[in-house]
Amino acid sequence: MNLAANLRERLSVPIIAAPLFIISNPDLVLAQCKAGVVGSFPALNARPATMLDEWLARIREEIDAHDRAHPDRPAAPFAVNQIVHRTNARLERDLELCVKHRAPIVITSLGAREDVNQAVHSYGGIVLHDVINDRFARKAIEKGADGPIAVAAGGHAGGLSPFAFVQQLRTWWDGPLALSGAIATGANVLAAQIMGADFAYIGSPFIATEEANAHADYKKMIVDSDADDIVYTNLFTGVHGNDLRPSVVRSGLDPDNLPTSDPSAMNFAEPREGANVKPWRDIWGSGQGIGAVTHITPTADLVARLVAEYGAAGARTVQFSSSRAAPSETRA
Ligand SMILES: Cc1cc2nc3c(=O)[nH]c(=O)nc-3n(C[C@H](O)[C@H](O)[C@H](O)COP(=O)(O)O)c2cc1C
Repeated sequence: MNLAANLRERLSVPIIAAPLFIISNPDLVLAQCKAGVVGSFPALNARPATMLDEWLARIREEIDAHDRAHPDRPAAPFAVNQIVHRTNARLERDLELCVKHRAPIVITSLGAREDVNQAVHSYGGIVLHDVINDRFARKAIEKGADGPIAVAAGGHAGGLSPFAFVQQLRTWWDGPLALSGAIATGANVLAAQIMGADFAYIGSPFIATEEANAHADYKKMIVDSDADDIVYTNLFTGVHGNDLRPSVVRSGLDPDNLPTSDPSAMNFAEPREGANVKPWRDIWGSGQGIGAVTHITPTADLVARLVAEYGAAGARTVQFSSSRAAPSETRA
């Protein structure tokens, strides 16, 4: 069985929960995995750095205990996100811990490096690399990643249409492929698969879960906002992303007249203070799909909604294709 099919078999719905800076913690990851979707977190969320060892040990132990108690529905594998950027001084040590705990999946962002991929492959782990265009995807595969995560428009960072992006990647890549960007319903997940992706990579809806490490006002803002409340800017971190308009306004800035920044401002050692506001603390990130988020819920309930919607969308698709097939059958 190929890698994507093998991973898909272990999920209740083909979803990888995306890593969220500050927000993803072991509680969220465990709830995601137990609900049957890949749970993930950025290694940098474990602070101080020594905490990562404890987090990984806890996630491993609780998943093993869950699997022993529920052999009929084992937890999905978990993923650790590594920011492969020159300002991330923790990379080497954090990677050693992923090897020690045999993290099943490592999601790399920003830089593609052969040595990182080899370290993960050494124990049978999988590397997925997140990319915003075809060129970066080719580079990631050349360096040995097992599959790209196509971060398309509407999500936290990308600018390409998901239609254009997936079809372009599928002209040369037939391995595992995840699609990201504003995916927030089970029908969206099925649509991503119909377009050619194997997995939907979903971030923002998980901010409004009980387990997420986010301020109550942030969760409420996700629930109260929709696509019109999202601003696309690189001012706050140096890299383009989508942020909640009300959080920009509350910080005293005009979301329609924000200055631009550049990638040299990216710094994972010391997040930058742009225009006197702190990204992450004052400015809250979110993709455009959050109109589908209407309540703060336990993660298990969010995943249950996605599973139910995915099933219903599948049934509608079958109905649609059989009703479309009927006239030509009659003609024949
Ligand atoms: C608040 C927030 C924090 C994020 N932090 C990270 C991160 O630390 N590492 C990373 O690779 N991606 C990060 N992302 C991007 C997500 O992993 C994912 O690509 C994106 O959320 C998908 O789009 P969606 O939010 O519309 O589902 C973040 C996104 C958001 C909204």
